Amino acid sequence: MQDTLTLVDGARLPRVGLGTWKIDADLLETLVPDAVSAGYRHLDCACDYGNEEAVGRGIRAAIQTGACRREELWVTSKLWNTFHRPEHVRAAAERSLRDLELEYLDLYLIHFPISLRFVTPETRYPPGWFFDPAASHPRMETEPVPIRDTWQAMEELVSSGLVRNLGVCNFGCSLIRDLLSYAHIRPAVLQVELHPYLTQEKLLRYCEQEQITVTAFSPLGAPSYIPLGMSRPEESVLADPVVAEIAQRCDRSPGQVVLRWALQRGTAVIPKTSQRERLAENISLIDFELTSDEMQAIGALDRQRRFNDPGDFCEAAFNTFFPIYE
Ligand SMILES: NC(=O)c1ccc[n+]([C@@H]2O[C@H](COP(=O)([O-])OP(=O)(O)OC[C@H]3O[C@@H](n4cnc5c(N)ncnc54)[C@H](OP(=O)(O)O)[C@@H]3O)[C@@H](O)[C@H]2O)c1
Repeated sequence: MQDTLTLVDGARLPRVGLGTWKIDADLLETLVPDAVSAGYRHLDCACDYGNEEAVGRGIRAAIQTGACRREELWVTSKLWNTFHRPEHVRAAAERSLRDLELEYLDLYLIHFPISLRFVTPETRYPPGWFFDPAASHPRMETEPVPIRDTWQAMEELVSSGLVRNLGVCNFGCSLIRDLLSYAHIRPAVLQVELHPYLTQEKLLRYCEQEQITVTAFSPLGAPSYIPLGMSRPEESVLADPVVAEIAQRCDRSPGQVVLRWALQRGTAVIPKTSQRERLAENISLIDFELTSDEMQAIGALDRQRRFNDPGDFCEAAFNTFFPIYE
């Protein structure tokens, strides 16, 4: 198995990246060079994670020590929901570039098909979900911006050399189909939640048909969401007897089995860890292979359990009912 996936325009996306959501800035600054030393060449970042400056310092350190060159890294960032108006797109990308200390992004994704009212960077950065967190009843406030307008502004980032590839997150088939009807630059990547409890077979098949490469976020399932109260330990696929049994047979950890399953499905994965010792574990995936029976057994665990669902968390955490998948 190659360690990269070839995108529609020929660019090569490293199959395994480091997810950076919820990693403390202090830690991230040294974790990034450690990840590069462990073999990571793909970093998944976002304005909303509030830690892009720390990633930038980490990248600088890795390059300065000679661990890698900029051209060998694949750095993804994401346009936040409050910056969908075309006039805000370039400034949002430039802010991520400045924080990451980069001249270009390898991939820029629309973070959610959700457009929220603009918040100036002077007011708050990252802006988050609330328009005014200090209000007596803080809520999300939407701003009606067609995705077509946002996409056209993203395409200009490519023409001006700030971004090499474009993509989207958290889109379903209908939104992608609509986007393809007007896009001059096709989305090269779709990033969505994917793990054995949410296998999304039809979405994957549709993306293959349209030559859109898929990156699996939250590839380990529940653990990311337990501390947020969005999942319970009993929902962990890593403790599932089917996964545990395969892990024992392959002499690998349950995490490695689940990540390898995702790679063999043809997706990229971006596991997050704040634990240095897990960096190597999560990228050591190419020296073993799951049989087709094992692939099927893991795929059969699907229970359509989406942990990261705005239809649930926006109401629970941001006082606003905001379904997007229904
Ligand atoms: N586009 C989007 O809307 C979106 C949404 C969510 C996530 N993402 C991206 O996807 C990345 C990955 O998703 P995620 O962070 O939600 O979840 P994840 O990577 O599936 O899981 C991370 C959780 O699993 C634990 N973990 C890591 N490696 C492990 C292993 N080998 N065995 C057992 N537990 C392990 C981590 O704990 P420790 O840190 O203690 O190791 C953490 O609690 C994010 O960091 C972010 O970059 C994108």
